[in-house]
Amino acid sequence: MQRDSIDAETETTARAPAANVWTALRIELDRVATDVRRRIDRATYRTQQHAIRFPLATVRRLLAVLTGGESPDPASVAALRGRYEDLLARDLANVEAGLYPRALLFQIPFGSYARTLPSLLLDVPRVIRRALARDHQDLPAGVDAQRYPSYFRRNFHWQSDGYLSRRSAELYDLAVELLFAGMSDVMRRQVIPPISRFMATAGARDMRLLDVACGTGRTLSQIALAQPRLRLYGLDLSPYYLQIARSVLADVPDVSLVAENAERLPFRSRHFDVVTCVHLFHELPHAARRAVLAEMHRVLRPGGLLVVEDSAQLAESGSLAFFLGRFAADFHEPFYRDYIGDDLAVPIVEAGFRLESVEPHFVAKVFVARKVAGARGPLTIHRGATANGRGRSRASRRNG
Ligand SMILES: C[S@@+](CC[C@H](N)C(=O)[O-])C[C@H]1O[C@@H](n2cnc3c(N)ncnc32)[C@H](O)[C@@H]1O
Repeated sequence: MQRDSIDAETETTARAPAANVWTALRIELDRVATDVRRRIDRATYRTQQHAIRFPLATVRRLLAVLTGGESPDPASVAALRGRYEDLLARDLANVEAGLYPRALLFQIPFGSYARTLPSLLLDVPRVIRRALARDHQDLPAGVDAQRYPSYFRRNFHWQSDGYLSRRSAELYDLAVELLFAGMSDVMRRQVIPPISRFMATAGARDMRLLDVACGTGRTLSQIALAQPRLRLYGLDLSPYYLQIARSVLADVPDVSLVAENAERLPFRSRHFDVVTCVHLFHELPHAARRAVLAEMHRVLRPGGLLVVEDSAQLAESGSLAFFLGRFAADFHEPFYRDYIGDDLAVPIVEAGFRLESVEPHFVAKVFVARKVAGARGPLTIHRGATANGRGRSRASRRNG
């Protein structure tokens, strides 16, 4: 009996190191496999992005030569390149940090873009004619003028039909992808990390998110993949863009879309936990920007999260001044010059939000703010903080 137990003990002690070695080996193999997968992802992703950028950059350079456009100085080009590379690195880091899924890195709809390309190319002569004639009122006949504010009834970017036809909506995503060298979805998904962090601290309850000016739904579709627990709402003034959003979001079970003006959100006060907005504010007049922010504040619950992404501004992105200026000159963007000088941090805080961060991302920036619960009193922005090139702002309430 004693002999048996000694044998058993010897056997167990002999097996224990073997098991430990095996576990250690498995951990090491997992680590190596993860590392290899990561390296392959990084290489594939960078190749994909650079492959998209290369032909676009070439066409743009050619156009600049043909039209005799002013060339950027080397410092401006270096700043733009640096921000491009920074955003690629950030995108990969966000996936590795678990802030959004890896699938988002590889979801560019190449098939649908390839099908759209011929129509886009056929449309180019019309766009050029319109731009040369400076005709920004070339809209489809029969548009109900009463339904839209005058600032909206125009050919933004000289695009055919403005935002007012299905054809325009069908061409939009590809056109924007070309304009931003394959980075438009990458920029859009920079609204997701603050949402993921917010949800991680908010517990398991169901939450509602509203994307204001959702356009064709590309931001919502990425949010849906990253945070499937969210109940999603999208609002846009263009019913035609919402038609495309409906098909882009066809696989998302919990989403409602509504055609309305963001200056009058058709929702109850305090209805949402999160409000997002991508690339709307630079297309709004000064006063409308404030009206939209007031509405966003009204529909958010106290403590709720606001994440706004829009074009870079001079406050934090002086190094891009050349490109921001060209955008205003080359495209029909009548409110853009005012926008780039109107540091959005100021009206965000004035609307009653506490600004948490402002981060530059390539040619865009992301504001993260919270609706302050029950605060009163005038707000002061410490503006010096935004001019330091790091894109950080700070704000305080005098009586709050
Ligand atoms: C530059 S696009 C951005 C769309 C989308 N967020 C994206 O990332 O592709 C601007 C969008 O804002 C919408 N829009 C403009 N003014 C609006 C308003 N006052 N209310 C609601 N939507 C508006 C347009 O219809 C268009 O879809």
